[in-house]
Amino acid sequence: MAFLEFKDISKGYPGVQALSDVSFSVAKGAVHGLMGENGAGKSTLIRLLSGDQSADTGTIAIDGEAQSYKSVRDAFAAGVIVIHQELQLVPELTVAENLWLGRFPSSGGVISRRKLIDSVAAKLQDIGIDIDPAAKVSSLSIGARQMVEIAKAVILDARVIALDEPTSSLSSRESEVLFALIEKLKAKGTVILYVSHRLDEIFRLCDSLTVLRDGKLAAHHPRIADTSRDQIIAEMVGREISNIWGWHGRDFGLPRLEVKDLSGSHLPRPISFSVRQGEILGFFGLIGAGRSEMARLLYGADHRHGGTVTIDGMAVAADNPGASIRAGIVLCPEDRKHDGIIQGRSIEENITISSRRHFSPFGILSLGKEASVADDFIARLRVRTPSRKQDIINLSGGNQQKVILGRWLSEQGVKVLVIDEPTRGIDIGAKAEIYEILYGLAAGGMAIVVISSELPEVMGISDRIMVMCQGHVVADVERPDFDERRILTSALPDRTAAAS
Ligand SMILES: Nc1ncnc2c1ncn2[C@@H]1O[C@H](COP(=O)(O)OP(=O)(O)OP(=O)(O)O)[C@@H](O)[C@H]1O
Ligand SMILES: [Mg+2]
Repeated sequence: MAFLEFKDISKGYPGVQALSDVSFSVAKGAVHGLMGENGAGKSTLIRLLSGDQSADTGTIAIDGEAQSYKSVRDAFAAGVIVIHQELQLVPELTVAENLWLGRFPSSGGVISRRKLIDSVAAKLQDIGIDIDPAAKVSSLSIGARQMVEIAKAVILDARVIALDEPTSSLSSRESEVLFALIEKLKAKGTVILYVSHRLDEIFRLCDSLTVLRDGKLAAHHPRIADTSRDQIIAEMVGREISNIWGWHGRDFGLPRLEVKDLSGSHLPRPISFSVRQGEILGFFGLIGAGRSEMARLLYGADHRHGGTVTIDGMAVAADNPGASIRAGIVLCPEDRKHDGIIQGRSIEENITISSRRHFSPFGILSLGKEASVADDFIARLRVRTPSRKQDIINLSGGNQQKVILGRWLSEQGVKVLVIDEPTRGIDIGAKAEIYEILYGLAAGGMAIVVISSELPEVMGISDRIMVMCQGHVVADVERPDFDERRILTSALPDRTAAAS
């Protein structure tokens, strides 16, 4: 029955044994989940399957046949397509060109652009993906780019498809399209290897599951129905986590951040709210609801059409991030991979290089202090690395996220922290730790605004929630009144249309 088999796979990098003796197999037509903490070895295993890198020892077999491929091209010829955690499309080409990369339909050797666009349009329509084939990939949102990658795997008709955290940048509607595609592929007998940190997705999609821990096989479940969320969490982190939110009540002080009638091109209706010292205000909404735009306006990164922002009663100049930083606002953006990582620099430098310190005369840290701030975050957030001197580029995706978060969370003199999708791509053990850090900062008097599209997270850690939909605030709920259904329905667009 085994269609895809990993046998005794080991792979090391300098200073890190990423995989040791991993063996498991997946049945034909199964969706197989791959879970584990950040740095557990998931992407490494997927990279070996993709042909991009070779294992130090061990074999991969497909349909009983040991594969000896040495490149992505070989793997492709064997029917294996991998969608990596980091997208691989060529931004300067169109969607259609990316989809047919290396296999353009040509007439007499000349690529027919029209033919290409038409054939891709038909295929995309066929699989239910609504993207213009003539659009340049660079003009698409991250979510749309992800859908193009997925379309590529479907169109090329692979025998084995691996998806490495595919939904981390998809909207819930896009995720639904992806899930429908996965069901179709499964019905065709395709084997799907699915990496995710989201347990609800894993239980919804997967038939079987493997858990990795520190590069070793921690558990293999041939039937996912025979296991449970708590069991999987314990297998991943090696301890029980009963309450990952760990919320506890805090005393609030005076209003710290006050926003009055804030508006901008994506926020047509003015928004007002205030956050007290010690308070965590959550913003929930579906992707595109206007939460990130609100944050950027607040911070001065986008042009304000009107309204005022004050901190401790002092107005903050509009359209001026430098002034916001001096006033004590920090914005930790959603797209940390693109906005935050400084390649070629160490973990330590990536944590301690801070925009704020350029503005603050008292913000300069001694070298010893920098090292201890970095070591502290590496330990608390369990960044899997041999040393703080390691180049950030060598870390796993989630561990890079942790380092960039460390940069924002270790800033000195912050009064208002605005943090967008704080735990995207981060494993469950480190999530709990990040929430603890946020509570600690709030207890120290900081006003915190958390933006998240994961409802359990917003409900788990906020003292109050504002719900946004299509650029409007549609609900403002205090913690005792939190209600999952009510918050979710208020975030759905059709309801707003009916109400306004
Ligand atoms: N090129 C490299 N050089 C050195 N170490 C590396 C390299 N690539 C990966 N590693 C290390 O191998 C280990 C496994 O990384 P991998 O990317 O497989 O983790 P992952 O399970 O995908 O984690 P995440 O959930 O964060 O994506 C990590 O400790 C990582 O730092
Ligand atoms: Mg990974």
